[in-house]
Amino acid sequence: MKAMKDNAAPREVHGNTFDEVIDQARRRLLQGAGGAAFLGFFASPAALARSLDEPVAASSSLLAAFPRSIPTHSDDRVTVMDGYVVRAILPWGDPLIDFSAYWRPDASSSAEEQARQIGDNHDGMHFFPFGPNGFEQGLLALNHEYTNYEYLFGKEYTEPWTREKAMKAINAHGVSIVHLQRDGQSGWRPVIPSRYNRRITGDTPIELTGPAAGHALLRTSADPSGTRVRGTLNNCANGFTPWGTYLTCEENFHNYFGGGSSDPLHQRYGIGKDGGYRWFEVIERFDLRREPNEPNRFGWVVEIDPFDPQSTPKKRTALGRFKHENAAVTLAPDGRVVVYMGDDERFEYLYRFVSHGRYDPANPAANRDLLDAGDLYVARFTAEPAADGTRLRGQWILLDKARNPLLAADARLPTQADVLIHARLAGDIVGATRMDRPEWVAIHPVSGEVYVTLTNNDKRKPGEVDAANPRAENRWGQILRWQEAGGDPSADEFAWDLFVLAGNPLAYPKGDPRAGSAAITPENMFNSPDGLGFDAAGRLWILTDGNYSNTGAYQGMGNNQMLVADPNVGLIRRFLVGPSGCEITGLTWSNDGRTMFVNVQHPGEAEGHPRAPRIPPGQDLATFLAAHPTVFSEWPHSQFHELGGGRPRAATLVIEHANGEPVFAAR
Ligand code: FEO
Ligand code: CA
Ligand code: CA
Repeated sequence: MKAMKDNAAPREVHGNTFDEVIDQARRRLLQGAGGAAFLGFFASPAALARSLDEPVAASSSLLAAFPRSIPTHSDDRVTVMDGYVVRAILPWGDPLIDFSAYWRPDASSSAEEQARQIGDNHDGMHFFPFGPNGFEQGLLALNHEYTNYEYLFGKEYTEPWTREKAMKAINAHGVSIVHLQRDGQSGWRPVIPSRYNRRITGDTPIELTGPAAGHALLRTSADPSGTRVRGTLNNCANGFTPWGTYLTCEENFHNYFGGGSSDPLHQRYGIGKDGGYRWFEVIERFDLRREPNEPNRFGWVVEIDPFDPQSTPKKRTALGRFKHENAAVTLAPDGRVVVYMGDDERFEYLYRFVSHGRYDPANPAANRDLLDAGDLYVARFTAEPAADGTRLRGQWILLDKARNPLLAADARLPTQADVLIHARLAGDIVGATRMDRPEWVAIHPVSGEVYVTLTNNDKRKPGEVDAANPRAENRWGQILRWQEAGGDPSADEFAWDLFVLAGNPLAYPKGDPRAGSAAITPENMFNSPDGLGFDAAGRLWILTDGNYSNTGAYQGMGNNQMLVADPNVGLIRRFLVGPSGCEITGLTWSNDGRTMFVNVQHPGEAEGHPRAPRIPPGQDLATFLAAHPTVFSEWPHSQFHELGGGRPRAATLVIEHANGEPVFAAR
């Protein structure tokens, strides 16, 4: 099977050997010794040099409860900082709706059972507290991004290939709404049955709303109205609104369609390349030759009311169609809703939505469709000084067919609906900045400063570097931040800088940009920042989805991990290390700040991930895993024996201070 979670760009630049690229990068990047190495990239380097090259503070009162980095490892277990305890709940395949569909270690659960169980590969999530004080109960809305066939089906996963198997995979996707209750003895546990518990899968009826709903490009033979879709897919990260709804974001939807396509508008999204899921062989709507518009109905932000199990989720087309990572929501001073969104693929863009209507806390019903009308923007990061004189200038470019002359003049996008459906092309036309894979966006709870992870981009050539994406062959990623002009998130301009460049100071000498910026040390180094979030105290939590080989450019980094940072002084400490082959993603807090929930996704991923080694043809999974100790996993059973094993399972971590102190400061 080919990569299931492939964020490779469809338009790579070829022509250089690996060594040539490295040599060019070295010549360009190593323009001086030590601190001067970074200066060459910036027109106004003073503030940037300070943030990247000057030693960060050795201590931070904000991190007092997180006093030192824990060591990394390549073991099949989760470790957390001293003084904290961790449990795992809600593993993939556990019962959710009732106890008739239980976990089967031999992969024999049916498609129908999977639709009533917790889905696979947990990603973004949000905890919605309720009850008298909001401390003892809540709904956890939990994304299930994709599934690994080698574990979903076991050895049997190739032949015979059936509709039943495709439906089992489809039902492993989507979202779980889980009623959680805090039990004095055992802590948070799911309430089963509960009227709230719900699975939304790749087959659940969903409504298309907003400016593109009903457009000819969204109509299919099963839905001539262009407003009714079956399912949400590749639910990566998330957002939540002030009016109590959950946002789930569709990322690598292109992988689910097969049969080939020569449509350049499809190719701009990588649609037409076989992603290996084989759904199109047995379900007509996934065959591009029969239903060329079906993929246009994916790649959206979906709004779900977690408190109404009968509600129909809505795909909000006003927020644009791309490979959505998360959706970070805030309010402008005048009450308009602002949503920041990354498009996670190499050289793709960062977007912002500003609603036309205003949030009214006194009128909940009036807020329900605020995400259906507004303006979509795309970011340009310049190397010019910003108005504040200390950072660099950024601009939000309006993606509006009538009001942007470049879009008005381009016949490829005849209407605003076309602009939204093909937002990537609109970004190309207006000259947005091509980024190193924008992943999560997070907003500081007090200052409103916005942070985005740019996870990595090993395809960027030396001639393609810019101020925001300053390294060619970028294997480690960076975190960029900005402040909107006047502190107003609806402003047209912003001032930005880089918060940190990840890197490896063991593999490369200090001063080499591959060693990372000054905040990166042998004790806290990591690669591929992905998940990102602020707790209410203003601590920045960084979750990684990177290379866990522990060799070469990644030596000493071990498994994927989570770190905590003080954004004011730049200090970063490693808080958690995950089990073999996993990614750490998704974070949310209980209402009293006592519990942090974090997800372990794809432990033991042996196939399908760009960073996972491939199983050679003819070799069985067990033989392969025995030869790849950094992949092999029986987690969570290996660590939490009460959870059934047989195969590795994504699960949610419950992390608390050993003394029960509310150190996480929930929002
Ligand atoms: Fe689903 Fe870009 O991570
Ligand atoms: Ca991610
Ligand atoms: Ca990632």
